[in-house]
Amino acid sequence: MKPQRIALLISGNGSNARNIIQYFSNHPNITIELVISSATNQKMEEFCNDRRVSFFEISNISQNAYLEKCLNSSIDWVVLAGFLKKIPVDFLEKYPQRIINIHPSLLPRFGGKGMYGKFVHQAVFESKPSFSGITIHLVNEEFDQGKVLAQFAFPLNEGMTALEIEESVRELEIGEFPKVIEYHIEQLLIE
Ligand code: GRF
Repeated sequence: MKPQRIALLISGNGSNARNIIQYFSNHPNITIELVISSATNQKMEEFCNDRRVSFFEISNISQNAYLEKCLNSSIDWVVLAGFLKKIPVDFLEKYPQRIINIHPSLLPRFGGKGMYGKFVHQAVFESKPSFSGITIHLVNEEFDQGKVLAQFAFPLNEGMTALEIEESVRELEIGEFPKVIEYHIEQLLIE
C-alpha cells in the first residue's frame, strides 16, 4: 500500500496541525509531508523543522503557489487545520474529494462566510443551543458545505461562556480530528 501523503494548511496558531503531525509520526500508511501557513508562524516552523516536515509561509493564496507545493511534493490529501482562505477552483479540481476541513460547530449551524474562530464561539454563545460541537467535512466550492465525514457534540451547560465553549471545541478537535482523517483515508485505501 502506497503511503498517503498529506499537506496541512493553516492560518492560525497551528495547535491542530501540531497534534496531527504527532499523531501520524511513525504511521504505516499516512505521512504528513508539509505545512503551508498563510501567516508567519515561527513556532510552527521550528516544530516542523524538528520533525523533518517541510514548512512554507505563503500569504497569498495565489492558486499556483499553494497548488505547486502540493503537486511538487506528490501530495494525496490536503487537510485544512484552521485555514481561513477560500480554496480556489483549480485547486479543488486537482484534489476532488481530497480536501478535508474542520469547523468548530455542528454544521450547517454557525457556518458560512465570516464564520470562523471566535465569531463561531460568540454566535453559539449568543444563541445558546442545547448542543454544539465540531464538524469534519470535505471541501467544495462553497464555504462549509461539503460532504460531512463526522460530527462530535457536547452539551452546552447553563451559563457556559464563549471561552468555555471554545475550550470544549478544542478538546474535541484535538481528540477526534486525527482519528477521522485516518479512518477516512484508510477506508478508501481498503475499498
Ligand atoms: C480551530 O478551532 C478550527 O476549528 C478553526 O480554527 C481553529 C484553529 O486553531 N477552524 P489552531 O490554529 O489549530 O490552533
